[in-house]
Amino acid sequence: MNSGVDNNKPSDRPKQGPVATGTGNLRRSSSGQGDAGGDVGLDAAYGLATPDDNRRLYKSWAASYDSDFIDRHQYVYHREVAAALIWVADGRSIEPILDVGCGTGVIGSALWEEGVRDIHGLDISPEMLAEAAARTASDGEAVYRSLVEADLTQALNVPSDRFGAIVSSGTFTHGHVGPEALNELIRIVRPGGVLCLGVNEQFYQASGFQRKLAGLADTGLLADCKVASARIYDDPPAGHEADTALAVTLVLPA
Ligand SMILES: C[S@@+](CC[C@H](N)C(=O)[O-])C[C@H]1O[C@@H](n2cnc3c(N)ncnc32)[C@H](O)[C@@H]1O
Repeated sequence: MNSGVDNNKPSDRPKQGPVATGTGNLRRSSSGQGDAGGDVGLDAAYGLATPDDNRRLYKSWAASYDSDFIDRHQYVYHREVAAALIWVADGRSIEPILDVGCGTGVIGSALWEEGVRDIHGLDISPEMLAEAAARTASDGEAVYRSLVEADLTQALNVPSDRFGAIVSSGTFTHGHVGPEALNELIRIVRPGGVLCLGVNEQFYQASGFQRKLAGLADTGLLADCKVASARIYDDPPAGHEADTALAVTLVLPA
């Protein structure tokens, strides 16, 4: 078990839309506000306190999130995390992959470009899930095979050992989801599987991530843990020039 900071770089199927499991309405929301000001945007997101706060904010932000945040700030975090997952898999089969806090689905597209096809998403916001459901690859095929509305701070209605890997960017951060979610995520990954989680670096320190990882390793739940730096933006939002992130890769015992 290596729990220190390691700065090494990190099917065919019928065409169909994603399957919503308990998601309620997966249509596009028309409630986005068209810019990242007011009650949406990164500062508002970092100031959230509860899952319900997250549901409310992302309901308002979903329709404009890609243009106002991903594109405007040249967000690269999802690509960094996807690349770290592919790197740690090192050619092993890691599908199906679950993207937790998938939002509008930017990691799904990054994984698709890496040749991954069996991609699933989970998020607390039906409006963000609707954006992910509409995301297609260059051939018009839906990027996500299924999308589920769920709260990562609660027990998940997902069978144990269901996925080969879990991936995430932008969700383990201030005001969102902390290390308390890790036990449930580990439960739904099969033995020998991998988790690759982007974690805001300042949040990693403040929320006790390292202590949680050490505890998981001590109880035999991790075979390996590596932490590498990951870029978030090429053009950071004002006031967030110093924000940094980590790609935390966890390998489960076989
Ligand atoms: C900053 S966005 C990141 C979205 C996407 N992964 C990305 O990199 O652009 C954070 C996402 O986490 C989701 N989220 C927040 N709290 C959550 C929770 N308790 N359970 C599940 N998803 C949550 C939000 O709805 C939102 O889609």
